[in-house]
Amino acid sequence: MRICVVGTGYVGLVVGTCLAEMGQDVVCVENDEAKLRSLLEGEVPIYEPGLEELVRRNVREQRLAFARELTGVVARSEVVYIGVGTPQSENGAADLGTVMAVAADIGASLGPHHTVVVIKSTVPVGTAVQVQEVIAQNAPRGADFDVVSNPEFLKEGCAIDDFMRPDRIVVGTGSERARKVMAYLYAPLVRTERPILFMDNRSAEMCKYASNAFLATKISFINEIANICEKVGADIREVRRGLGSDQRIGFQFLFPGVGYGGSCFPKDVKALRHTAREAGYDARLIAAVDAVNDAQKHLLGKKIVAHFDGDLADRLIAVWGLSFKPRTDDMREAPSRVLIAQLLEAGARVNVFDPVAMEEARSVFGDAVSYAPSAYRALEGADALALVTEWNEFRRPDFKRIAQLMRERVIFDGRNIYDTEILQEMGFVHYCIGRRTPWNGAHERPPARAKDGL
Ligand SMILES: NC(=O)c1ccc[n+]([C@@H]2O[C@H](COP(=O)([O-])OP(=O)(O)OC[C@H]3O[C@@H](n4cnc5c(N)ncnc54)[C@H](O)[C@@H]3O)[C@@H](O)[C@H]2O)c1
Repeated sequence: MRICVVGTGYVGLVVGTCLAEMGQDVVCVENDEAKLRSLLEGEVPIYEPGLEELVRRNVREQRLAFARELTGVVARSEVVYIGVGTPQSENGAADLGTVMAVAADIGASLGPHHTVVVIKSTVPVGTAVQVQEVIAQNAPRGADFDVVSNPEFLKEGCAIDDFMRPDRIVVGTGSERARKVMAYLYAPLVRTERPILFMDNRSAEMCKYASNAFLATKISFINEIANICEKVGADIREVRRGLGSDQRIGFQFLFPGVGYGGSCFPKDVKALRHTAREAGYDARLIAAVDAVNDAQKHLLGKKIVAHFDGDLADRLIAVWGLSFKPRTDDMREAPSRVLIAQLLEAGARVNVFDPVAMEEARSVFGDAVSYAPSAYRALEGADALALVTEWNEFRRPDFKRIAQLMRERVIFDGRNIYDTEILQEMGFVHYCIGRRTPWNGAHERPPARAKDGL
């Protein structure tokens, strides 16, 4: 099949490349000149493990190409994906400006054959109807097309595997013809017991928001339980074991931390709340999930400020991990942004390191922070280390070396990856999430400062 994918971001590029990998003839359209240029040169402008190799192979084998204009590409395609961004607008709603502009262009470019227009972007309930109307308004008379709602569930960091081996594929359509096309297209992905779930467009659109809101709820739930644990002297690690062992609950998405970030959960939770409000329903649980997360993103910064008695002037704080989660360079809504803003506001100097997001960080923080060439170099002369993103290389560092590099031995562990007892033996003060340590929690005051000597 000839396929067009509009938008080559974290979703569009993965979808296009994976479909090409399955033998389809794919052209991805991108209107950002810099991104397009790097793609045409065989460079992938985002960090996603395995993607560059897959892109290069499929380009080389002529199943994948890139273009600036969608007109000619849409005209030749039987399936056209819309994979552009749907960012949050000021009132919390999803901004559909780009989706609708692309829909209009697609309408004006439709070929004489039947075309399935697939909405991959995360869009509010009712968008498929609007896209249908916009395409029809711009299409030649009698144009033959269907609009399918096919939300994407991939995770950045393992996007290729998620797309190739999905838990389920959700396809919303009322058209039997479109259903057949989608079933044929996705058959290679569901050869085992994986289901394609066909349903109406509105339900498909809602599936994506319900899934993200539920996952966000799990995170805010465990964060809230962790915060209570800190206050009452329970240990969230033990509580997690007791909680997750219940098969009705499970262990996934129950790690406490510094809140969820990224390009999806924050905006999708807000957009769902907005959709509900527009429909006359006050989604209180969804609102609470958002509020808990917002507070959680400030938690590590609050601990740091409290530790230094509110005075961070002349303090140097090292921050490990800037992307919103490991295995991606995506810093959209990353907890690191909130923390670093707090630290700068409190007068601290900040030295940052991330294994892949340094370039992105420079565009976010500019000259406000300094950029270390390695994790250890970030620690030189630091008064504290804040661990924000749990990249593997941060999990078992050389604490003796860390102790020698830092001015003070204080670690704020935003992901609970270190062992308090081991660190304590080495003279570190270890703050974490959801556990009462000699320093952490409500009851003890922080020690004056960490002790000398290993
Ligand atoms: N990132 C994820 O993990 C993820 C997962 C599931 C769903 N989604 C959803 O998928 C959609 C895309 O997300 P993303 O993270 O890939 O966004 P992104 O911002 O990384 O990518 C969007 C791309 O579309 C391009 N674009 C914008 N207008 C265009 C136009 N007129 N013609 C051609 N290209 C155009 C942009 O330049 C950009 O490269 C969003 O709705 C998002 O909510 C994202």
